[in-house]
Amino acid sequence: MSAPAVLGARPRSILEVAAQSALALPTRNPGAMLRRLTRDGRETIRMGRGRRRVFLLTEPDDVRTLLVTHAGDVHKGPGVQATSALLGQGLLTSEGAAHARARRLVGAAFSPTQLDAYTAVMVEEVQASIERLAAASVDLHAEMTRLTLLIVGRTILGARLDDHADEVRTALQTALTEFVRLRPGARAGAEVVTSGRIVEARGRLLALVTRLVAERRASGADGRDALSTLVAARDPESGGADRLTDAEIADEVITLMVAGHETTANAIAFCLWQLSSRPDLAERIRAEVDEAGDASWLDPRGRLPFTRRVVQETIRLFPPAWVFGRSLDAPIAFGGFEASPGDVVGVSPWVIHRSARWYDEPTVFDPDRWECRPGGLRYDFVPFGAGPRGCIGEQFAWIEATLIVAMLTRALDITVTRPVRLEFTVTLRPRRGIAASARRRS
Ligand code: HEM
Repeated sequence: MSAPAVLGARPRSILEVAAQSALALPTRNPGAMLRRLTRDGRETIRMGRGRRRVFLLTEPDDVRTLLVTHAGDVHKGPGVQATSALLGQGLLTSEGAAHARARRLVGAAFSPTQLDAYTAVMVEEVQASIERLAAASVDLHAEMTRLTLLIVGRTILGARLDDHADEVRTALQTALTEFVRLRPGARAGAEVVTSGRIVEARGRLLALVTRLVAERRASGADGRDALSTLVAARDPESGGADRLTDAEIADEVITLMVAGHETTANAIAFCLWQLSSRPDLAERIRAEVDEAGDASWLDPRGRLPFTRRVVQETIRLFPPAWVFGRSLDAPIAFGGFEASPGDVVGVSPWVIHRSARWYDEPTVFDPDRWECRPGGLRYDFVPFGAGPRGCIGEQFAWIEATLIVAMLTRALDITVTRPVRLEFTVTLRPRRGIAASARRRS
């Protein structure tokens, strides 16, 4: 692929990345490259000689135009579509009316009552993990991936993946390992489709989920996991007649397990890494937890505001979903420039969150910056996307990350023992884990 060349005649705020495929950037470190290009004030770049035009938005207003105002004029980018080999036709991959219906039905799994039930499970799982984590040598990223997997197993599936379903854990991990190794882009997508290991992993997950759905229907049991909610869900728009089929439930459950696991694990691992070099912040978290008492575990959103700000600052600097995009079905104007049907338009929280145009001293880790920032939805902080395709698990993720960071920080002294390098795959993750030592606090 040829080196990036700068084009002159494009409006501010849009980078054109005409790569051979969507966001398949010709570099080992696409995140650094995109940031360098934006920092240099180069507003329009072109790479390679691909026929498909790819743009990257850098203005929050344009992000709203794409994700909210024109949500009906776009569909998911080619990379996401290709993941249906693993995810089937669940929330992440479906489009149009099918997506809107699925969103209404799956929404029931994220009601406040459900979130309370999930929180109680999270507390149990984190408590059980503390002894395992206290070791001279531990990979924080691997451990957080394991912990969040155990949590999705119980909250989404109602199954204890450690005791009964080792095989599922392996299947999910195989699929994810294959999946996250991929770089965003259509070529990578083709690999997903043909990867035998992914197909096999999906087959195994499907077999388990199908069995659990049948058991749930037969027993009529009203569990507190997402699977039970999906079995019981009725679409209000159909007067309650329309419900998810078993095959649809299976796809939704697999989607929630995959989408709700690696992203959160990365965020938490990054957060513990940051805290390891900032004992002052770790002490403030401990003080907050001590003051709030153990009851705070069951209401981490309300009771642990400082811990939450530390998580928020982590997700700003290290957004696990560092880039996502849309293919256009209709022309859309961004700041005076019109993108055409067939163009791919990307949003990168990684680029926007690190821009000095929206954040003072953008590379400094400063959780207190969130204290004086006005609340409400702002498009210069979009780690969970926005609009009708925004993350359905956002509240789940806030609770889980805040809780885990608070509980582990109180119980352990964690020291990261090797420099951490970033890897820009489908998610932003540490390249070779996060090596650390963890000591139980007395
Ligand atoms: C820190 C953790 C997380 C991050 C950063 C994150 C980020 C995102 C982003 C950016 C999107 C939108 C992508 C787009 O617009 O193309 C998304 C969608 C989604 N997320 Fe998350 N997510 C996280 C946690 C979760 C959790 C815990 C779950 C479920 C338990 C989940 C389930 C989903 C699903 C199903 C969608 C698709 C929604 C739709 O299209 O209607 N995510 N997520």
